[in-house]
Amino acid sequence: MRSDQRPQLIWDLPLRLWHWALVVCLAGSWITAEAGFDWTTTHFYFGYSALALVLFRLAWGLLGTFHSRYASFLTSPKRVLTYLRRPNGAKPSTGHNPLGGWASVAIVVLIGLQASSGLFISDDIFYAGPYNTVVSGSTADWLAGWHHQLFTLIQITVVAHVLAVSWYTWGRKEGLIQAMFHGKKVLKIRSTEETVTEHRGMRALLLLALAAAVVATLVYVAPLPEYDVY
Ligand code: HEM
Ligand code: HEM
Repeated sequence: MRSDQRPQLIWDLPLRLWHWALVVCLAGSWITAEAGFDWTTTHFYFGYSALALVLFRLAWGLLGTFHSRYASFLTSPKRVLTYLRRPNGAKPSTGHNPLGGWASVAIVVLIGLQASSGLFISDDIFYAGPYNTVVSGSTADWLAGWHHQLFTLIQITVVAHVLAVSWYTWGRKEGLIQAMFHGKKVLKIRSTEETVTEHRGMRALLLLALAAAVVATLVYVAPLPEYDVY
């Protein structure tokens, strides 16, 4: 056990860069979706990037450092319920709290579904996602409906997320937002296993390249579209 009260590294650099890159991709996807036809190609590229980031995070949940791994933050429903009953009584969590862990995965899955649905839809005028022709018109319309609805759900989730982390940062003074920049929190690390001493940067780069290659290949091997894809 360590009882060190100095700031301890919690979030590895790849996870932090990933988080802020995801914010940029989501904001970019939104702005370009609203900005009109001229921006649709850019919308696709932001969407592909978001999809690659989602794939990266899924892998980083298995291969990242301690607090980035699912095993450290996906707890039993019982622990989540106990936490929900008395969130103010709970000790500050080193990484994600029991609710935050599941919420993190939910946001990633929602963004994955959003980007994946985009691959199949079209604006019925100029542009279509690369897999639009493999589904019927009615399926594409149905998925386009989801592409719009899911985004509303993502907006609500992100607002709740920002309110929650703000509350923990300024209400409970746990320094969560600062930690997503510099990676450190002042907390008692409960076991030596929880101490993060490396960033695994090379592994992260390889995984990111692999995720980007998977998305690029998906787009490259897609059937010829009826509309412009690029
Ligand atoms: C498009 C907007 C955003 C999205 C999609 C998003 C998504 C996420 C996700 C998925 C995580 C979990 C990280 C992980 O996988 O382990 C997370 C964590 C976090 N985010 Fe965001 N985020 C957004 C905006 C923000 C903003 C604006 C802030 C700061 C004001 C912020 C602060 C944080 C913090 C502090 C954590 C760590 C929470 C914890 O300690 O449990 N996020 N975010
Ligand atoms: C996380 C990533 C994405 C987000 C947040 C997102 C968001 C949105 C939003 C909000 C709209 C509605 C714009 C409006 O009508 O006001 C939209 C439309 C659209 N998106 Fe995405 N999108 C993403 C990824 C993608 C991808 C990867 C593709 C295809 C490669 C795509 C293709 C389209 C198309 C074709 C439309 C027009 C649909 C229509 O007119 O009904 N999107 N997107």
